[in-house]
Amino acid sequence: MIFTLARRTQRMNSSAIREILKLTERPGVLSMAGGLPAPASFPIEALQRACDQVLSTQGAAALQYAATEGLPPLREWIARRLSQSAWQVEASQVLITTGSQQGLDLVGKVMLDEGSPVLVEQPTYLGALQAFAPYEPVFRPWASDAEGPLPSALSKAEPARLAYLVPNFQNPSGHGIADARRREIAQQTRRSNTPLLEDDPYGELWFDAPPPPPLAAHAPEQVIYLGSFSKVLAPGLRVGYIVTPRGEHPGTLALRAKLLQAKQASDLHTPALNQRIIMQLLDSGFDLEGHLETVRVRYRAQRDAMATALARHLPAGCTWQLPQGGMFFWVTCPDGIDTLQRLPSAVEAGAAYVPGVSFYAGSAPGQVNTMRLSFVTLSPSEIDEAVSRLARCLV
Ligand SMILES: Cc1ncc(COP(=O)(O)O)c(C=O)c1O
Repeated sequence: MIFTLARRTQRMNSSAIREILKLTERPGVLSMAGGLPAPASFPIEALQRACDQVLSTQGAAALQYAATEGLPPLREWIARRLSQSAWQVEASQVLITTGSQQGLDLVGKVMLDEGSPVLVEQPTYLGALQAFAPYEPVFRPWASDAEGPLPSALSKAEPARLAYLVPNFQNPSGHGIADARRREIAQQTRRSNTPLLEDDPYGELWFDAPPPPPLAAHAPEQVIYLGSFSKVLAPGLRVGYIVTPRGEHPGTLALRAKLLQAKQASDLHTPALNQRIIMQLLDSGFDLEGHLETVRVRYRAQRDAMATALARHLPAGCTWQLPQGGMFFWVTCPDGIDTLQRLPSAVEAGAAYVPGVSFYAGSAPGQVNTMRLSFVTLSPSEIDEAVSRLARCLV
């Protein structure tokens, strides 16, 4: 049987990361390739109590179809929490999604046509490229300097349909954008009338100081913001959210309505059971701040272990910056080292990473000498061993 597939499927590729993850399941491989949070950080007992409570006191509602927008108290909780920064958010702006990955897909679905220019950082989150690609945009590399993406790339003369960035401890680079640059980008967003998609799953995972307010705080009418419980509680819950821009402008209301319709068509709603479990957890005296602090302390120690191991083992000429939060180091090797080519020998030696080339969009030439290393799923001593194995494959 020949199935004629839609043209858009030609733009769908299986994630290089997923393929690599399969390889790294081999016994003995110390993987720095995954983008997964540390399982030890999941609040399993508290979630179990919340789950029991939900099923015994609101079981029918939790197992019934529910509103596409999401559970009202959870939308209100999210609006309140985000409003603790310099940004004021109303619950009506919040649409609960099935992970922030669904947010990326829905925004792509309602905003992108064939040929729509989309500005993306170089490198950028691979899952965003995958989510947007089927809508057939043209990815435009967003030029940057040491401070982050350049505001001047947001141009009125050559408008982008959408500009996408990850402002905090970016996946894959680990970099964050400082407050001054955020304000400049937000200002230019307003001047050039460019919609900005701010994807922020890592903002709570800071090590030394909380990140500056989101770009949305400086351009609330222009920014679509994505958040997630994946790195705060657990990714298996699949609960994230879109915060649509503020205001009652007809364009804003149309965007909100279309996102809602797109979500309805996609999955009707995010599992009500999971939303209610999260709400129950947050309502039942769960110490969220204490929990986040435990995760930060844990990840900071792993970050420090990797920084020490990189300095101790990597050959001369390799460079990296110390991430101030999140889960990743981004390493640039000397010219002439192709990290994709070296991956099989690294896996053979028992260490895995993601070659940097996977994170560059479409026609932009990827930097073949870069790689992403996750520090959150290995213990400090495993990190030392993994980096030492890796180093032997880079000489
Ligand atoms: C930058 C970025 N955005 C979005 C996601 C998707 O997260 P989730 O769908 O679990 O909320 C990830 C996951 O790793 C990510 O790194």
